[in-house]
Amino acid sequence: MTKINLQNNDIFFENPKRIVYPTCWIEFIPVGFKIIEYSKPMCLVELGTHSGNSFCTFNQAVEFLHLETKCYAIDNWEGDFQAGFYGPSIYDELFEYCRQEYPQSAILIKKTFDEANLLFEDNSIDLLHLDGLHTYEAIKHDFFKWLPKLSHTGIILFHDICVKSKGFGVHQFWNEIKADYGFAEFCYGNGLGVLFVGSEIDQIQKDNLLFISRDGIWKNLLEMKGQHIFLKRENKLLEFALSRSSKILDNYKESKSYKIGMILLSPLRYLMNKINKFRS
Ligand SMILES: C[S@@+](CC[C@H](N)C(=O)[O-])C[C@H]1O[C@@H](n2cnc3c(N)ncnc32)[C@H](O)[C@@H]1O
Repeated sequence: MTKINLQNNDIFFENPKRIVYPTCWIEFIPVGFKIIEYSKPMCLVELGTHSGNSFCTFNQAVEFLHLETKCYAIDNWEGDFQAGFYGPSIYDELFEYCRQEYPQSAILIKKTFDEANLLFEDNSIDLLHLDGLHTYEAIKHDFFKWLPKLSHTGIILFHDICVKSKGFGVHQFWNEIKADYGFAEFCYGNGLGVLFVGSEIDQIQKDNLLFISRDGIWKNLLEMKGQHIFLKRENKLLEFALSRSSKILDNYKESKSYKIGMILLSPLRYLMNKINKFRS
């Protein structure tokens, strides 16, 4: 029976080096780390990178584990109607970050998924992350278009398998396809599915991934660490907003209009105090 002990130097304890807006993927950072540890892909392709939270997670794991993985990020870096549309600074910033931090592993390909598909040979991709448009038609199209590119040890990750909002059809496609292959599911946040499409995936790798998705302790640890990362980021944003509004308030207190206002209101305050005393 599989049993995985947690050592002090486990990648689980790594903290993400870079988190940026939008943060819909960041709860899966600890799971992403473990997937790279167990699958050790030579060639990783991501369809849908946006500002790079998932992509940087994979690259950080590759660096931490001293792997020689090549990680390809594919996106038109224009956005879509679900993720929203955005300007060129998103690509520029990610490109610069990857150039500095992950020059050995990270390769950014600014193309549509269908255009980029021609760049990869059949049986060449070990780990494919599907995170583009999340309609039923789009995920089905991306899956079948890229399936022949997967190697004999190929694994496909599906983000958003738990999202049931209008227009999101990954959950429907996932439920149709998962029984045709072995699979593991991480059902919290927006949900992450792991599909074992290769016919020669190492059984220990598979067992390890299944184990961390099913074992009560591991499941809780991964979910709690993911939520901790998410809440830490929210907290940082709130602290920033609070310090900005405190500064605005302090500046206002120094302004003439505030001081004049206080003088003008003082008779009213005096009257309110009297009324309150009388009432009590
Ligand atoms: C949900 S976002 C990706 C989120 C990202 N993985 C993260 O960690 O935050 C989807 C991205 O897919 C891109 N996209 C959607 N359909 C595409 C297509 N057919 N070709 C290229 N890019 C596409 C959009 O530009 C958008 O940046």
